[in-house]
Amino acid sequence: MDIEEFRGIRKTAEPLKFTKFNVLIGRNNTGKTSILEALYLLANPWSDYLAPLIGRGRPNFIADLHGGKKSLVYGYTGRCKLTYKVLELTVTMELDQNWVTEVKVNGTRKNSYKEYSEELARCLRVDVEYVHNLTFYIPGSSSFLKTLWGSLMNVWDSIVKMGIHKRIVKELIVPTVYDRFTEILIERGSLKLRKEVDEELGPLYIDIADIGDGIKRIITAVLALEYVKPKLVLWDDIEIAAHPGLLEAVLSWLSSKDWQVFIATHSIDVLTSCLISPLGTGRS
Ligand SMILES: Nc1ncnc2c1ncn2[C@@H]1O[C@H](COP(=O)(O)OP(=O)(O)OP(=O)(O)O)[C@@H](O)[C@H]1O
Ligand SMILES: [Mg+2]
Repeated sequence: MDIEEFRGIRKTAEPLKFTKFNVLIGRNNTGKTSILEALYLLANPWSDYLAPLIGRGRPNFIADLHGGKKSLVYGYTGRCKLTYKVLELTVTMELDQNWVTEVKVNGTRKNSYKEYSEELARCLRVDVEYVHNLTFYIPGSSSFLKTLWGSLMNVWDSIVKMGIHKRIVKELIVPTVYDRFTEILIERGSLKLRKEVDEELGPLYIDIADIGDGIKRIITAVLALEYVKPKLVLWDDIEIAAHPGLLEAVLSWLSSKDWQVFIATHSIDVLTSCLISPLGTGRS
């Protein structure tokens, strides 16, 4: 992809090329978050379509994480241009401080999200309704966690039906923490983790807000990813609050799925895990 005048990036010197598993590692202020956010807009750059589980349009969501809508454009004035190459598609989008101004697919202007999503669905061979789910962004900021918990509770029946609430505890949580957690559930109007303490006392139900930060972030993100099933997973500052053992489990989990992964990190542990893991094939 090419990025021009988007957030912290003036112009990419050459096209960014990605593979199935991508790790963006670098010093502060080198543009990692900006790249993830540019990729996030691919699914839908129109601000009046709410992103799955987020309850905001994608450009609004990014703007809220920073200094408002002006922050989307490099230098706070003008317009940004993003160019994506996906299979045989070339998508270009231009945004200014009044959000999206022009979107083209293979050189043809798309005047609405309906036109855009129909073209993407046809070329990518996915359902038109699914196009909205193509990208999912997990920002470094934790402020979005509460929004996600509320949204996840709204779709809890589907999550239970898909078995996600038990599967992620078994695959990710049990092997990496000492507590004996067995499932995630809704109890008295909030998300809880069932913790086996003692056979006589029975289980404890721990509110997700009271779980340690590392597990809390990972559980929320993983529930959301399993539910949305995006094609592009965009996870910023993945190492926040997570022990290397938990990180290793999450990286393996991410690389075992049928999606393209983009993670940003400052952690050498993350890089080492990616390089030495047997699941490392295809990572770059
Ligand atoms: N609208 C803007 N116009 C110009 N520069 C901007 C704009 N928004 C952000 N920046 C610059 O972009 C940089 C931040 O970029 P970004 O957040 O993508 O970096 P990062 O690599 O993710 O950093 P970190 O490792 O700290 O998370 C800062 O140098 C900031 O000055
Ligand atoms: Mg960043």
